[in-house]
Amino acid sequence: RARIFSGVKPTGHLTLGNYLGAMRRWVEEDQHRADALFCVVDLHALTVEHEPARVRRLTRQAATLLLAAGLDPARCTLFVQSQVDEHLRLSYLMECTASDGEMRRMIQYREKAAREQARGGSVRLSLLTYPALMAADVLAYGTHEVPVGEDQAQHLELTRDLAGRFNERYGATFVMPKVTHPAVAARVMDLQEPTSKMGKSHARTAGIVYLLDEPEVVRKKVMRAVTDTASEVVYERGERPGVANLLDVLAACTGGEPARLAEGYASYGALKRDVAEAVVELLRPARERHAELAADPRYVDGVLREGAERARALARPRVDAAYRAVGLLA
Ligand code: TYM
Repeated sequence: RARIFSGVKPTGHLTLGNYLGAMRRWVEEDQHRADALFCVVDLHALTVEHEPARVRRLTRQAATLLLAAGLDPARCTLFVQSQVDEHLRLSYLMECTASDGEMRRMIQYREKAAREQARGGSVRLSLLTYPALMAADVLAYGTHEVPVGEDQAQHLELTRDLAGRFNERYGATFVMPKVTHPAVAARVMDLQEPTSKMGKSHARTAGIVYLLDEPEVVRKKVMRAVTDTASEVVYERGERPGVANLLDVLAACTGGEPARLAEGYASYGALKRDVAEAVVELLRPARERHAELAADPRYVDGVLREGAERARALARPRVDAAYRAVGLLA
């Protein structure tokens, strides 16, 4: 069976972008067809200014929501990154494989570092080495496939480079992972700022649909989505990003093709109403189930404990082998 690994970072409440770009496939496809591991990457959440209590809360919430969305602990492994030490052990070897220059070239690093500096803050060193830990997450498990949204493509390209370089230098140790994106909605855009991605840690929340938003809130956010002043509904990502984004979301919710769906609408209002209803219905089951699961934190903790144990057992031999390969007395 193919091995699949993917992760989500607890730096904010999970969004429609996380759901359509990643989680939905984990639930509907990946856990059924492969040996899949899904990880709440709490260590990665410490790469920017953070509040300990909030990270703790968001880590539990993300795990609970993944279960609520349909991850089944009998079919896949769900765990928290910091509970499996192998990630950090291997991350160091990845730092010893990567160059300073290739880390600095990462778009996400540049954007986030610029943002922190603009706010007068300092940039954590771990923000720079972030892709080393991410490579370790993937490579520790002999992962064949990594299902993610488009924004993670560059990081995973680096993961592949590091795997290849390590294998070449020290002997075949890691599997070369393949990266996959969903066919539609691989990059869901902010409803207020349709040229930037919908990101869970943005300060302005009016353009972000959170998975736990009440239906009324979802409707309001979608109805107020920024479009443009033209009135004909056509699908043009470059020229008309707001409308294209709505059509992508609708296509992802209902099936069908964005450009074809556009033909069925005479006005933006009608399109928005359908998008709002489709999103509300898409998210309803997970939101309702989340309320039940959140009342039973012991169940969720138990799932995470078992997940961590299984993950540790899978990762340990490969990370030990990597230690020996580079010359450590593992
Ligand atoms: P994170 O937490 O930002 O996002 C989790 C997943 O959701 C996808 N995603 C989106 N997809 C479409 N449109 C959007 N607006 C959108 N926003 C987020 C992301 O592409 C991702 O698949 N560095 C990663 C977490 C990570 C990881 C890994 C992933 C750590 N180690 C190893 C895969 C393999 C991150 O910050 O994802």
